[in-house]
Amino acid sequence: MSQPTAANKIRSEVKRRRTFAIISHPDAGKTTLTEKLLLFAGAIQIAGSVKARKASRHASSDWMEIEKQRGISVASSVMQMEYQDCVINLLDTPGHQDFSEDTYRVLTAVDAAIMVIDGANGIEPQTIRLLEVCRARHTPIITFINKFDREVQEPLDLLSEVESHLGMDGVPFTWPVGMGKHFAGVFDLQKDRMRVFKAGQDKRGGDVEFMQGLDNPQIAERFGSTFAKAREEIELIQEAAPAFDQAAFLAGEQTPIFFGSAVNNFGVQEVLETLVQWAPAPSPRQALERLVEPDENKFTGVVFKVQANMDPAHRDRVAFVRVSSGRFERGMRLKIVRTGKELRSSNVVSFLSQRRDILDEAYAGDVIGIPNHGVLHLGDVLTEGETLHFTGLPFFAPELFREVEVKDPLRSKQLRTGLTQLGEEGAIQVFRPEIGSALLLGAVGQLQFEVVAHRLKTEYNVDAILRPSRYNMARWFTSDDPVALKKFMQSNSQHIAYDVVNAPAFLVSSPAQLRVAQDLNPAIEFHMMREHSGQVFSQTQ
Ligand code: G4P
Repeated sequence: MSQPTAANKIRSEVKRRRTFAIISHPDAGKTTLTEKLLLFAGAIQIAGSVKARKASRHASSDWMEIEKQRGISVASSVMQMEYQDCVINLLDTPGHQDFSEDTYRVLTAVDAAIMVIDGANGIEPQTIRLLEVCRARHTPIITFINKFDREVQEPLDLLSEVESHLGMDGVPFTWPVGMGKHFAGVFDLQKDRMRVFKAGQDKRGGDVEFMQGLDNPQIAERFGSTFAKAREEIELIQEAAPAFDQAAFLAGEQTPIFFGSAVNNFGVQEVLETLVQWAPAPSPRQALERLVEPDENKFTGVVFKVQANMDPAHRDRVAFVRVSSGRFERGMRLKIVRTGKELRSSNVVSFLSQRRDILDEAYAGDVIGIPNHGVLHLGDVLTEGETLHFTGLPFFAPELFREVEVKDPLRSKQLRTGLTQLGEEGAIQVFRPEIGSALLLGAVGQLQFEVVAHRLKTEYNVDAILRPSRYNMARWFTSDDPVALKKFMQSNSQHIAYDVVNAPAFLVSSPAQLRVAQDLNPAIEFHMMREHSGQVFSQTQ
């Protein structure tokens, strides 16, 4: 194949990619919406009820019993589907806030996000944290306000709540006509027509009824005062709300807003169409060395997630790689930039509707899964030979600590192996204190400790004892002054521990203690976030 044709192919494949995640507070309807999006895109023929989906997920890919016990989605997964000539990659995120660090990293691998809000509860705490991450990265957000088949908040109130929390303008694309028992449908403001509500679980939209025109007397007659109220609101927002502006959406300054009922498969297709039409194709990615364009000829990609033992039958680790540029082909030889080693990618998986299929090619925006036995770490960059370090994959300073020891001293080696692997996966942060032998575990959420203890037991046959630690805060530190750095480390050795990439961190029990250290050591910079490459990033403390 001649060079220009290959380049054109890459360009056109990149243009039709849409990679996004759904974010929400638990129970807002993320699983339901995911299932309905898959249904519309034809990725699954019959989408069962949420319960059935959750149950089958347990059967097929639930690798951790704790997930079953708690009914929360600990594992992130990836689904690929095609809709209107677009290839859509949907990256699932854990809903539970204790795994927010994992979610943040998934968000570094998407180009857009759909935010699901429970219409009764409005914006909830977990949504706010996730939004902050999206906002920091200027990720475009599409908002779906769910559960209009129930008594929910007034749509105008929800609109202003979304605007004030997001700090961006909301542009309603649809508007609800009634709610709960009187939910009559949604009015499409772009197409000036109403989609009449029909309860229904698994239909793919065959028997959809539309009524054209806001001034249509038949609508007014059929839905009476419910429609009259909605119409008043629509006229109000048509005057007050800004017009949709794609550039503002892409810059994260405007969010298109949709209303509906995911469980009834209602208002979902509009979201999918907007995603295909307006959400961005993969954009260039910044590396320390240069800007990498998605349609370059050479393959590059980043490991944004490592998951162990996804399939108990395989007992493997899968590195999730987001393709940043070029074309991935099965069997390609890839360089792991961190180690300089070569990886032969013959056994690679794609994610299609939860099934692991052998993948033949992938382009920027796609996610490929590479089974391996520990050679790939979180944040690793894969290339065809070039040395590149992508920026932006964050580790956050833990807020909770435990000392970890093993009940049976003969199993300390297994404990270390297990913790090293879980640390590389990002399931927990492991610190090796400068003084003393007990390893320290650091987490952002309490549940992370439980998961780690459970996994040490089931996957490594280690009974770990987790004891409270005197530390509550950690800050990575750097200095331009090597002498000051050495002095600081010597005089604080009892507070220093090294993380998985041997970056030193300063551990304290209170903010006051940190402030004292800062005052005494002006040449030292303390950081609450570290990037994967081992480089420490300057942040507020
Ligand atoms: P999540 O992934 O964000 O945690 O939410 P999920 O989709 O699991 O939905 C949480 C609950 O909300 C589910 O009920 C689901 O059926 C319900 N739900 C989702 N969308 C809608 C909607 O449009 N309208 C209404 N009324 N409910 C909706 P559940 O209590 O977990 O199960 P079940 O009692 O429905 O079986």
